[in-house]
Formats: sequence, structure tokens, C-alpha cells
Amino acid sequence: MAWDPAGKVAVITGASSGIGEATARRLARLGMTVIAVARREDRLQELAAAHPGIVPHTADVTSTEEVVGLAERVRSEFGACHALINNAGIPGGAFRGRDDIEDALHTVDVNLGGTIRGMGAFADLLEASAPSRVINVASVAGKLGVGPAGYASSKFGTVGFTEATNLAWARRGITVTQLNPGFIETEGFPQTDIKRTPIARLIGVPDDVARAIHRTLLDGAPERTVPAFYRVFVVFRHLASPLWRAAISRSGRAGGSRE
Ligand SMILES: NC(=O)c1ccc[n+]([C@@H]2O[C@H](COP(=O)([O-])OP(=O)(O)OC[C@H]3O[C@@H](n4cnc5c(N)ncnc54)[C@H](OP(=O)(O)O)[C@@H]3O)[C@@H](O)[C@H]2O)c1
Repeated sequence: MAWDPAGKVAVITGASSGIGEATARRLARLGMTVIAVARREDRLQELAAAHPGIVPHTADVTSTEEVVGLAERVRSEFGACHALINNAGIPGGAFRGRDDIEDALHTVDVNLGGTIRGMGAFADLLEASAPSRVINVASVAGKLGVGPAGYASSKFGTVGFTEATNLAWARRGITVTQLNPGFIETEGFPQTDIKRTPIARLIGVPDDVARAIHRTLLDGAPERTVPAFYRVFVVFRHLASPLWRAAISRSGRAGGSRE
């Protein structure tokens, strides 16, 4: 049976800007109740004021207590969670040595740790609300080891966690999707370096990803890449690893920056 978003409850983390904000707006327009989560309360209040279906909730995804508190609020106020979109994320910086240890660990804690906390805190409610969806916003950087090492490892981890739970949670009526965007211009990911290169035209906008999340709610696909042509790079990297390494070294993307 088709999965109809209207009237259902969605929780999206990282909703105060970029991809999360665009997705919250789109899902609210579809008639979903959207619990929009981030740390910047003023941004969430503004978003909620513009869309009656959006409910702001301030939380930090590095706090297990705050994420569990979010799940308890959703259970008691809304009685269900049909869609959980783990999207909160940061790029982190280049990993060169001792001074970068804390930054890399924090990046993993937000990007991968936030996803693990979200899925753990909402698991029972998602099962009780089945058929339900989890969409983990990973990255093409979780398939190709480029950019800051902390970021790439957080996204490889997210891809692995998503693949394993996709298999394990299917019998609970929960689909778990890895949603892998390429370059999208947002506050945290301004794409400053890429804009100066010939591949600047590949840079997308947050609504491209929001549209892909909408499609995933409808079909529950296990994996989606946005834009889809980035899949060619992923196949190339796995089928012809030495050629891939030569090409990426020459392109300047091996420097470990995410600007
Ligand atoms: N843009 C790209 O090129 C690109 C490509 C691939 C994947 N992605 C992924 O897409 C997701 C969204 O990124 P974006 O591009 O939309 O960037 P963005 O505009 O900077 O949004 C990041 C969001 O994450 C929230 N956030 C950061 N740390 C948080 C924390 N500790 N607790 C709760 N919320 C937190 C931020 O809100 P507050 O600061 O208010 O908390 C913000 O709402 C990320 O997971 C990113 O890795 C982006």
C-alpha cells in the first residue's frame, strides 16, 4: 500500500538551516506534523511561525539525554513517529595532527553519534507507528574517502550503521535509508572552493535533497544519491580503485578541506 505522508508525524534534526529547513517546509506543505529539531531556537521559532504544521524543539544531538527527551515528548504529545530524518551535521576541519583530534571526534559524535542516538531513542515508537521510515542523511563522502577525514569517517560510519539497521529493522516494519547528497550550498557547507572550479555547476540547492527525501518517504528505497549521477563516481571508486586514486589526487580534492 502507498505510504501517504498527509496526517503523519515526522521528526527532523538539523532543521534550523539548509537541507533540514527545506525538508521541514516541504513535509509541512504535504500535511505532515513536523517536529523541527536543532540548537538555534530563534531559527526554529521563525520556521514554525511560517508553517502551522511545524513544531520547534531545541536539542543537541550529542546529548543522549536531550535526544531521549525529544522522543518522550513526541510520544506523549503526538502518540507516533512515522518518519525520523537524522540530518543534523557539521563538516569539521582538515585532520593534520594532534591539534585536530578533538575536532574529528566531535564531528563523528554529531554526525554518526547523533544518528545512533536518534535511532535508539525512537526505535520503539517507530515500531509502534509502523510502517515507518528512517532517513539518515549521510553523504557521497561516506562512499568516497575525500574531504576532511573526521567528516568522511562519520559518513562512512553512518552508511554502515544504516545498511546494518536496514536489514535488521525491516521485520519491525521500519525502512532505513541512506540518503547521500553531493555538493549542496548551505551555511555549514558554503562550497567556496568548488565554486572556483569547473565543477561549480554540479553544486545543488537544499530543495534538491528535500525533494529526494520526499520521494524516499513515498517509496522507502534503501539508498538514494542526490543528484543521481554521483553514483557513477561511487561505482568507479569501487571497481577501479587505483584509477580513482590517481584522478582524485590530480583534482585537488585530496587536500582534506570541505570548504
Ligand atoms: N551541503 C552539502 O554539500 C552536504 C553534502 C552531503 C551531506 N550533507 C549533510 O546534510 C546534512 C545537513 O547539512 P546542511 O548542508 O543542510 O548544513 P547546514 O545548513 O549547516 O545545517 C546543519 C544543521 O545541523 C544542525 N546541527 C549542527 N550541530 C548540531 C547539534 N550538535 N545538535 C543539533 N543540531 C545540530 C544545525 O543547527 P543548529 O546549529 O541550530 O544546531 C543545522 O540545522 C548534514 O548531515 C551534512 O553532513 C550536506
